[in-house]
Parts: sequence; structure tokens; C-alpha cells
Amino acid sequence: MARKIILDIDPGIDDALALCLSLFDPSWEVLAVTAVGGNVSSAVATRNTQALLAYFDPERSPRIGAASEPDRGLPVKGRFADSADDLRVAALPVAELRTPHPSEKVIVDEVRSAPHAVTIVALGPLTNIARAIQRDPEFSALVGRIVIAGGAVQVGGNITPAAEFNIYCDPVAARVVFASAAPKTLIPLDASNKLVLGLGFLSELPEETGKVGALFRKLLSAKFRNYRLELGRETIHLHDTLALMAVACPELFRFVEMSGDVETAGELTMGATVFDRRAAPAWRHNNLEVAVSVDAGAVHQEIVRRLRLAADAAGDLATPV
Ligand code: BDR
Ligand code: CA
Repeated sequence: MARKIILDIDPGIDDALALCLSLFDPSWEVLAVTAVGGNVSSAVATRNTQALLAYFDPERSPRIGAASEPDRGLPVKGRFADSADDLRVAALPVAELRTPHPSEKVIVDEVRSAPHAVTIVALGPLTNIARAIQRDPEFSALVGRIVIAGGAVQVGGNITPAAEFNIYCDPVAARVVFASAAPKTLIPLDASNKLVLGLGFLSELPEETGKVGALFRKLLSAKFRNYRLELGRETIHLHDTLALMAVACPELFRFVEMSGDVETAGELTMGATVFDRRAAPAWRHNNLEVAVSVDAGAVHQEIVRRLRLAADAAGDLATPV
């Protein structure tokens, strides 16, 4: 039986790649793709999600969830290359959603329809997941697992010295999710920083005559350009795609149970994730399974292999992007 997935995304180039790999994994059933504001505003995240789904046009169309602003707004003013994940470069056409359903409602409905069987892959700020938890008191007991791309254990942040981007965007929501009883897996920067892709990755992508190759050759070239201009690096990370691979190929990761929380207020540390790693921890309840290491070489090969399968399934371009 296909594995039931909800993908919660703020597309985002990295999110778009993770979406593509999810849609064309024959062992997965993507029930819904829910948008959340983060890399882009809520409205743009919703529009980009629709546009990507229309472009990939998968055999089974997932439901779409529309994003709404986090309660405190998005705190991100200027973005670094690591989070300047703009899809505008692809200029994908999109039609307005006729009856938009809020992302958190779509998430709750789908989890209720398949109790204990749904894995939520959360690749953006945790706004929607926290709202789903608050909307339905049984949600945490009914969801199969929530896999989260975000946080940092032993390494610094990527949007501030202390905080990782997704947690920083809505730390109050992240705190709600961390504290919930739902089974959770965290894929922090400690793991995702290990996947370092050089320019050679572009030549490993599928041919540009196909939908997948055409889109990602363009988008990933833009991502390399951003990293070079803003960080002075010739390499990129794919934090979201790596988190998705933790769901697809958990055997390539090492996980440890940990007790973690989120700083929601600090002047310098807002959005930092804090773990009790003392010899005699006082936080006794392990609330997260955390990816602490990864076979990055194997993940890289697996991404390339899956992209080629996705390219075969998605087919050729009708009109160039
Ligand atoms: C996260 O921030 C965003 O730039 C990416 O989409 C990813 O979800 C990494 O910190
Ligand atoms: Ca993301």
C-alpha cells in the first residue's frame, strides 16, 4: 500500500525539488500539498504551490491548502542566499484557486480520514502544523508522524547566528509543535549542512527537453548564483530535499531521541532550538527523534536517481519554461 504523505511547503526552489520527488515516487500517495509563508509571503507560497502542481501535472492530483499569515507576521526582512529561494525565475503560469481551503483545515481533514497513517513532511515554518494541533485536540494522537526540516543542535543558525530559517519565521508555532504529543522527527542543519553540492550537480540533472530537467536546470542555476553572490560560495545546500530523503531512505541517516524546545523571545536568540544534552538532563521527556548524521554521498546519488525517475514519469515539455 502506498505511503500517505502531506507535504507542507513554502516554495522555494528547494521545496519545489522536494515536491517534484514526492509527486513521482510510486510508493507514495501525496494526499495534499499545503502552502505556508516563509521563503515567500503566504499569498506567493500558495500561488507557487498551485503553479508547480499544474506544471508537474501528476496522475493523482493532491489537494491544495492555502497559506495565511502567521499570527506575528513573517519576521524575515532581507534574505540570505540560503533562504532567498525565489521561484520567480521560472515564471510559471497559474490560475486562481476557485475555493481556497486553509492549509490547516486540509491537514486536519486528511489526517482524520486516515488515522495513524499520514506522514506530514514539513519543509517550511511550522505555522500550519501548529494551527492543525490547536484546531483539533485529537490531531496529535491521530497523525502518523511529522518530519520537520528545521532547527540546529550543535551548529549555528543560517538566518541569524542562533536560528535556522524555518523555526525563526514562526518560533511560537514551532514551540507548539515541539511540545505536542505527535510523533516527530527533526532534520536539523547539523544533518542538512552535510549535503554540499557543487556546480557538477547541474550536469547530473535530467535533460532539459523534459519538464523536470528544464525547470530544475533553471532554478538550481539561480540558486548557485544566489549562493555565489551573497555567500561567496560555489556550492549549495538542499535542506528540504535532504529532509525528504530522511523519509524516503531513513537507512541513510542516524537518529537519536532528544528533548528539545524553541526560544521564542530572545533578542539575539529568537528561533533558536535548545536541546538538553547535559550528562544528567533535567528535561527527561524525549520529544523528538533527531537526525544527527547522514551518509551525504549516498543521499546525493539517491536524489539524482530519483530525479531521473521523476523526469521519466513527468515527460516532455509542451512549451519551454
Ligand atoms: C530552510 O530555509 C529555507 O530557505 C529552505 O526552504 C529550508 O526550508 C532551511 O533553513
Ligand atoms: Ca522550505
